[in-house]
This record gives sequence, C-alpha cells and structure tokens, in this order.
Amino acid sequence: MASDIKTGTPDSNASGKTMSKVTNIAVLTSGGDSPGMNAAIRAVVRTGIYHKLNVYGVMYGYKGMIKGDIIKMESKSVANIIQRGGTVLKTARSKEFYEYEGRKEAYNQLKKHNINGVVVIGGDGSFKGALAFNQEFDIPCIGLPGTIDKDIAGTDFTIGFDTAVNTAVEAIDKIRDTADAHDRLFIVEVMGRDAGYIALHSGIATGAEHILVPERKTNIEDIVSALQANERRQKLVNIIVVAEGDAYGGANEVSRTLKEKVPHLDIRVCILGHIQRGGSPSCIDRVIASRLGFAAVESLLEGRSNCMIGIVNNLLQYTPLENAIKDRQKIDENWFNITRILAS
Ligand code: F6P
Repeated sequence: MASDIKTGTPDSNASGKTMSKVTNIAVLTSGGDSPGMNAAIRAVVRTGIYHKLNVYGVMYGYKGMIKGDIIKMESKSVANIIQRGGTVLKTARSKEFYEYEGRKEAYNQLKKHNINGVVVIGGDGSFKGALAFNQEFDIPCIGLPGTIDKDIAGTDFTIGFDTAVNTAVEAIDKIRDTADAHDRLFIVEVMGRDAGYIALHSGIATGAEHILVPERKTNIEDIVSALQANERRQKLVNIIVVAEGDAYGGANEVSRTLKEKVPHLDIRVCILGHIQRGGSPSCIDRVIASRLGFAAVESLLEGRSNCMIGIVNNLLQYTPLENAIKDRQKIDENWFNITRILAS
C-alpha cells in the first residue's frame, strides 16, 4: 500500500517466509510493561482490521495464551488508549512457556481461533519464548521491542525507553533542587535491569557528575577523588546516577562506600523504581509504537516470521529473534568523557 514509511533492507536471515495466507492474528504484551505498549496494540489491531483480518488480543502474555485467555478485538477495543501507560492486554512473566508442554498448550489454544500470525510486544525474555515457539510450531511470530531498558539489538529505540528516561529526568531535576538547597550529594538509582541506557541518558540530560552502568567497571576511588576535588573548589552539590544493574551493587552500596571514604559528605539515596514504568507515553514512544505495530501486520502479510522489527537510522530493520536477544548494544566510552567534561 502507498506509504511514506521507508523500509530498510531486510536482514537475510530474518526473512523466513511462510507460504500460508494470514487471516487471523493475535497480539500480546509480555514481560515488564512499558509506556507505548497500548499505542502498539492499537496499531496492530487497526492495521489488521484495515486488511480485513480477524484480530485477537491475548490477555496476560504467554500465561494467558496457555490458559486460552484470548479475546476478539474490534476497532473500538483500542479507542482512547494511545495516550495511556501500562497495557490494556495486561502482562505477565510465564515460567510455563519456558517448557515445551506450555508452548504446545499455547499452540492448541491459538489453533482454536485459527490464529496463524502472532505479534509479541516485549523484551528479550518475551523474544526467547517467541523464538522457541517459532522453531516448534507453524504459527509465525513477529516481535516488537517493548521495554524501558533498551537492551535489545537491532533497534535504536525500544517502545517505552523515551518515556522512562523523561520520567527519570524530571525526577532527577527535582532532586537537584533539594540537593542544591542543602549542599548534598545524591545517589539516584534508575532501572534498566542489566543495561545502563536509562542511567546514561538520564544522567547526561540532568548534568549528573557521575554515571555508573553495568557496561563499564565502576572505579569508586576515581569518584572519591573527584568528590574531594569538587569540595576543594566549593562544589558541594553532586548527583551520581547509578543503573540498578551496576556491578558495584546499586545506590545503597555506593552510598555505604562513599560514607566510609568521605564521612563528612551529606549523602542521600533515592531509588526511582517503578515510577519509571508508568505514565502517559511520550510523543516519540507513541510514534515508534504506531509505526512498528503497523509494520508488524504488514510483515505477517508479506510472509515474514521469527524476526523483530526495529528502527535503525529511521529505517525499519528486521532482525532474527535470536540476534535481537544475543547481540547486546555497547556503550561508547566517549559518553563518559562527555559526562566528565560537561559536569565539571
Ligand atoms: O525490564 C523492565 C524492568 O522494569 C527492569 O528495568 C527492572 O529490572 C524490572 O523490569 C523490574 O521487574 P518487576 O516489575 O518484575 O519488579
């Protein structure tokens, strides 16, 4: 169909064409929710209906798939949700789906509705499930990256990352106000599981003095020296943003060490937690989700399976699920130089 959406060259391994005609599709959200999942669901449902497909929603991710918690979706089922956080299809993490028996039962449930295409919106755990399912059964799956963590290869953005980072930025800006009023050091812990992208982006955007991420070894002595140097020049307000997965052990552990090494510093810890997962999705997340949801249905109709659709350099990119999970993004060392120089 006519569209101004540019499509990148499909990865050769990701084309995995299936020949049967797709008529009935299902969409589900799985793993941790992320802002923009609703926008993606809406796009899948409405694109499917546009193409005269029967569209089903699977409640509670793979857990609901195994139980047969599958509902028919109409255009109005997704009205007034593009601006809402969370997921109207609910989500869950399913241990049963790790097992072949669980996946077999899920397949049987999908077959009851003649479902012959599935769109999975989730993170790496969800893609592992989709990959195994794709290898065992004849229902093609397309993955869309829906996670605040941005820990997936084959895409510049994941649905929910931008909103989560903006939430963290807003919170850290507020923390800096009170840190400034009291001349305090704040150690702020952000989410990201074992990835440091939320920390990196929110830290740079708030002028954090230090950013600690799992992708880079934390040198606490360097931080102590920098804090002491700052103190000598009367700079007493400092913010350290710590990714929850940092090998040093999170904000409380960093605080404990710094209190020992620089006892006179007035230190507070703030763990932002699940606030980062909620809220109305940003414009960027809504647009990405809409574009990817649209592309997912078109891909199923083109006969694709077993791939994740991402956006790289503003082009759609199709990555085999196994690569999306396996290849982690790296954080360029330059980002830490930028942080150090700009926060001095
Ligand atoms: O993967 C998203 C995420 O929010 C991570 O950043 C975090 O480590 C984890 O999920 C928290 O999971 P739960 O909501 O199960 O506590």
